[in-house]
Amino acid sequence: MGSGKWLVLRVEAADAEARALAAEALIGLGGTAVEERDNALVTYLAAPADPEGFLAGAEERLRAAAGREFRLSWAWEEDQDWTELWRRGLDARRVGRRLVVTPPWIQPETQRGDVVIVIDPGMAFGTGEHASTRGALRLLESAVAPGDRVLDVGTGSGILAIAAARLGAREVLAVESDPDAVTNASVNLERNGVAERVELRCDVVDAAYLRALGPRRFDVIAANILSGVLLPLLGAFRESLDEGGRAILGGILREEAERVVAAARESGFELAMVDEEEEWWSGLLRVA
Ligand SMILES: C[S@@+](CC[C@H](N)C(=O)[O-])C[C@H]1O[C@@H](n2cnc3c(N)ncnc32)[C@H](O)[C@@H]1O
Repeated sequence: MGSGKWLVLRVEAADAEARALAAEALIGLGGTAVEERDNALVTYLAAPADPEGFLAGAEERLRAAAGREFRLSWAWEEDQDWTELWRRGLDARRVGRRLVVTPPWIQPETQRGDVVIVIDPGMAFGTGEHASTRGALRLLESAVAPGDRVLDVGTGSGILAIAAARLGAREVLAVESDPDAVTNASVNLERNGVAERVELRCDVVDAAYLRALGPRRFDVIAANILSGVLLPLLGAFRESLDEGGRAILGGILREEAERVVAAARESGFELAMVDEEEEWWSGLLRVA
């Protein structure tokens, strides 16, 4: 999916603060995902028309953002394996049977029935480059039926909420505690044409928050968060789900799965499906 020649910029900055400011400047320059490698920042850009002029401008912008203590170097890189490109935010990726997650600058190859999700990599968590996001997406594909009411807890980039809406959910409530991620999710919801069906809130979800939403409010809850956050929420998830409701739990390490499943059983769930990739475990649980 996609090919090209890329301008690779590498910035070595004095400290973490300068690196954070430089990372913002790199995104402002049109950089795709910004990777941190050995205290240096690396980003890939589509070849500019005037490379010399571009590099001079880039140096100036970085100096304005990060001060004097940085070193900019650059190189050209030829096209590579698509998974590697995708990891750097440069190509589309198929997840599960029908979902295709793509950065905005790629026109992915699709098949009939595919659901394309456009996400800007390198922003909030949830670009599809993390195995736990992919696990949750694959389970969502099985869990969401047209007309469902879905809650996405910790929406990050909004990726699961977008997938749920594009898979036919009637209404989606996406809640995220980090205001920067909410800003990013808002852009992604608009970009994917689902802003009208997804209500986005900047809030911390806890059991009291869920209870205040009212019982049996949802058909599906998706929560790709660490197990330490999920475990205390399981009882409230159960109460928030209607008859036949399903919960997708992600962000769980394989070695934590047994404990999470036992706690979910105690809260009135049964395990319906498991997805494992790398060290990450995701589970689809049904109301028993
Ligand atoms: C691992 S990311 C998942 C993002 C996205 N849903 C995905 O699947 O890729 C978890 C997100 O949950 C948010 N979060 C963590 N605890 C939360 C809570 N109690 N309420 C709301 N958001 C929370 C974090 O800020 C983070 O953006």
